[in-house]
Amino acid sequence: MARFGLMTGGGDCPGLNAVIRAVVKRATSLGHEVVGIERAFHGLFEEHGTRLLTLDNISGILPRGGTILGTSNRANPFRWAVRDGGRWVERDESTRALGRLRELGVEGLVMVGGDGSMAIARALAERGMPSIGVPKTIDNDLAGTDQTFGFDTARAIATDAIDKLHTTAEAHDRVMVLEVMGRNAGFIALESGLAGGADIILIPEIPWRVGPIVEAVKRRQARGRSFSVAVVAEGAVPLGGEQAIQEQATPGRGVVRLGGAGRVLAEALTEQIDLEVRVTVLGHLQRGGSPSAFDRLLASRLGAHAVALVDRGAWNRLVVLRGDSITDVPMTAEETGTRHVDPKGELAEVARDLGVCLGE
Ligand code: F6P
Repeated sequence: MARFGLMTGGGDCPGLNAVIRAVVKRATSLGHEVVGIERAFHGLFEEHGTRLLTLDNISGILPRGGTILGTSNRANPFRWAVRDGGRWVERDESTRALGRLRELGVEGLVMVGGDGSMAIARALAERGMPSIGVPKTIDNDLAGTDQTFGFDTARAIATDAIDKLHTTAEAHDRVMVLEVMGRNAGFIALESGLAGGADIILIPEIPWRVGPIVEAVKRRQARGRSFSVAVVAEGAVPLGGEQAIQEQATPGRGVVRLGGAGRVLAEALTEQIDLEVRVTVLGHLQRGGSPSAFDRLLASRLGAHAVALVDRGAWNRLVVLRGDSITDVPMTAEETGTRHVDPKGELAEVARDLGVCLGE
């Protein structure tokens, strides 16, 4: 029998509960014990921050968004944020975290997270606490896997938003700008933009110029289409400019928070066209709610595979989707790093072929 820890780290995404359910179900059937650690590494340092997960705990969670374990994107034991007088400072609390994991009697962790959580897992593995990584993020930007769970749901939510913006854009002869998430990757913007029939799609991988966008709007006007819909990834940048940032990374406040890319486009456009431009920031709606059937399936398959690896004692592997199959790869920096939309890839080319303006 193995006893292992289970943690969800980083930003939440639809499907986390489906992974938790699959891990607990499979582990229970194989006679293993799962210790749930709450709010990522915070749970290790709190009095009631861990609990044994059983079939009772996970009943009914499959369709639920969020994570019953809670999560945090500000919980790195190697850079733990603490208040020192009036300001936040960072300390290395990894030895304390490792000590707590040993006290809990776990032989390793199943870490459900993005690139940041996987980097922590790899650093802990170097210090003797191995992991199995389960990649998650709505951004779909994890290198080792063809798709992360959470992305399909976020893409559908963004597509639905584009559909809704279309009707009101048309009614008012407006340019509607939708800012979507994705951090430094444009997967959500490009794929929802294509699925929703956006006229303009701006992604971080292709710096934009306002000229071609103005031309695209005016071309549509000349055809009697006096409205346009633009989808802008939060990480998109004007050529020679910088990303729009809402909050800088500071100790205790997590990573850089992007935001405002839609407004930047709207301001640039307003100067050059005679249509009204409005901005909608889709924000955390993309991360909430029930996972799609695809994400539930993917999450369940990854969770079950993670336990199969624990069962074999095959630690320090990342479970991934390759083509149609679930498999596993070594948990290297390369596999757990980030990936980006290929500006010359098939989807970007399809967008160009269909006359979508990518701001080039
Ligand atoms: O990585 C997922 C994500 O939703 C990004 O798309 C976005 O930039 C970020 O997290 C937002 O994080 P937070 O919820 O901390 O604002």
